[in-house]
Amino acid sequence: MSYWTWDPSLNVGIDVIDGQHRRIVDYINDLDEAHSEKDHEKVTQILMGLVDYTVTHFAFEEDLMRQAGYPLSDSHKKVHETFISHISKYKEQHEKGQDITRKLMSELQIWLTNHIKNEDKHYVPYANKVLNKKKGWLNRTLGRFFGD
Ligand SMILES: [Fe+2]
Ligand SMILES: [Fe+2]
Repeated sequence: MSYWTWDPSLNVGIDVIDGQHRRIVDYINDLDEAHSEKDHEKVTQILMGLVDYTVTHFAFEEDLMRQAGYPLSDSHKKVHETFISHISKYKEQHEKGQDITRKLMSELQIWLTNHIKNEDKHYVPYANKVLNKKKGWLNRTLGRFFGD
């Protein structure tokens, strides 16, 4: 059984965003598997992928909020930045050989659940306006951040 099973209450209702959040959950489940296998190298790789993907997701969201003229864009961006510096510290500790994986996973689960359900859901009505009006924006921006 996986560590974190996606729960529909986490859906914000924008497919592209829900897909990215699910991908983050997949990373966390992969991390759990590698950690139970005591595969340090694999844990390192997944951890790097997880941080990288999360940074890209945040950048995508920030672009979407800016496009949408979301009034809380700046404070939402600050929340992202604080969180990235927090998980980057875990990455450094892991590189020094400390076993931080379980702690990181449980913090990620709590943080993401709260962030998605509160802060992310809040920008959805604004974001939907951009997504409905500027159809080309989505493909262009996805290509820019995630490649084709
Ligand atoms: Fe998000
Ligand atoms: Fe966010």
